[in-house]
Amino acid sequence: MRQTTTSIKSLPSRRSFLKSAAGVSATAIAGPVIVPRSVFGANAPSNRITVGVIGLGTRGIPDMQLFMQNDDVQVVALCDVNRSSKGYRDENAVMGLEPGLQAANEYYASRKRSGEFQGIAATSDFREIIGRDDIDVVAIVTPDHWHAAMTIMAAEAGKDIFCQKPLSLTVQDGKDMVAAVRKHQRILQTGSQWRSHARVRFACELVRNGYIGELQTIRALIALNNKQGPGPGWKPMPVPAGFDYPMWLGPAPDAPYHKDRCIYKFRFNLDYSGGQITNFGAHALDIAQCGNGTSLTGPVEVEGIEAEWPPAGSLFNTALRAEFRARYANGVELICASEPPYFGTRFEGSEGWVEFSQGSVKTYPESLASVELKANDQRLPVVNPLRTVAKPGDFYADHVRNFLDCVKSREEPIEPVEVGHRTATICHLGNIALQQEKRLDWDPVAEQFVNDDGANRMLARPRRSDWNSA
Ligand SMILES: NC(=O)c1ccc[n+]([C@@H]2O[C@H](COP(=O)([O-])OP(=O)(O)OC[C@H]3O[C@@H](n4cnc5c(N)ncnc54)[C@H](O)[C@@H]3O)[C@@H](O)[C@H]2O)c1
Repeated sequence: MRQTTTSIKSLPSRRSFLKSAAGVSATAIAGPVIVPRSVFGANAPSNRITVGVIGLGTRGIPDMQLFMQNDDVQVVALCDVNRSSKGYRDENAVMGLEPGLQAANEYYASRKRSGEFQGIAATSDFREIIGRDDIDVVAIVTPDHWHAAMTIMAAEAGKDIFCQKPLSLTVQDGKDMVAAVRKHQRILQTGSQWRSHARVRFACELVRNGYIGELQTIRALIALNNKQGPGPGWKPMPVPAGFDYPMWLGPAPDAPYHKDRCIYKFRFNLDYSGGQITNFGAHALDIAQCGNGTSLTGPVEVEGIEAEWPPAGSLFNTALRAEFRARYANGVELICASEPPYFGTRFEGSEGWVEFSQGSVKTYPESLASVELKANDQRLPVVNPLRTVAKPGDFYADHVRNFLDCVKSREEPIEPVEVGHRTATICHLGNIALQQEKRLDWDPVAEQFVNDDGANRMLARPRRSDWNSA
């Protein structure tokens, strides 16, 4: 029997919420009252960037920690619809609101900076975070189907935004996010941290400066599905206590609860994400865009080559294995294919190749790996010039630091909303071409398929109920 969920209609609409949000004080959720930064001098604790983190799962808790380790940041509020449960990416991982709160409290308690630790507010309704006028920044670390609605609401409420990759669920979502961020003059950093990696920068600089000759082909490698889902005939499960399932579904279609629909494994259901094409594609194709110098545009043609799908009726419905190709206006061919074990991007030119994978660069000829760029070579931005000795993993911290610096300077971060949108667009084009099983012409200026109404209809999906207008 089909299990129904409480209607989201019982929640205030986005518009009525925003109207009342201006009047919501920080005390609306239990927690510290922090005076806006502008009231104090530059070195006062209240001059710190105040952050609310939405989504405390596989990536959310580490993202929260990356924010907290900056002395000029105070995480003041946390949100998750899941109070706590076992079984995220790692089946034994315990995550959600309470584990996130515990980690944050322990961190701040251990720092013992006088006057700093005042407690952190916790809620299951992100609108309470977005409605607080003492919060400068929201980090959106929820499944992809929430990114657009939350980003748009946060931008309208005047927040700067760190939004995880893939930036959008659909091309239309991405366009709406760009429009909202620009209209409200917000800073948005996409959580595509590999752009902040020194070796990615070097690989892309080799390509951009012709060290591999003329760029001909880019191979973006994405991993195979790393999780299995229930097959045809799967049965709904009761919603666990402490899990606000209607608020997890949000803008997505109503659907019966199953644990494998939700935490971590949402990746493999097209209602919430796009499989490894969007999950790892958002990294591998982002590097492709960077090396090709096409970060603000996209290919002109896309074609599904092959895809293996789960049996009809399975809970997972994203491709188990896929390959698609695309072509840019400059003639460069892009091939995106499933290949274990992880992800990587390889640029092939007329005189050699360079590949970034698992944190390191390989080249042909090998000597390219130790090339010293010339003074007049084109350089890509260094996100954290203060870091002179980098340990593995520091690039992610630098990506967050780059965002925080831009929140202060109002300059553009390394992966602004347009760049994240264009990378996510290629992932979506690939998924659409695979489902349409044909070659499609894409107009990257109009952001439309050329003469293909069926494919164009797949560029947008209605957001359910009150989230439709976001
Ligand atoms: N940059 C990276 O390398 C990287 C790595 C992993 C995940 N991600 C991205 O981060 C996002 C989250 O992925 P994950 O693996 O952490 O997922 P996850 O399922 O492990 O965690 C997501 C959390 O968001 C919560 N959530 C869902 N709806 C919510 C809502 N309305 N309000 C508040 N909380 C809500 C869930 O309960 C869950 O705890 C995805 O977009 C994913 O692509 C990025």
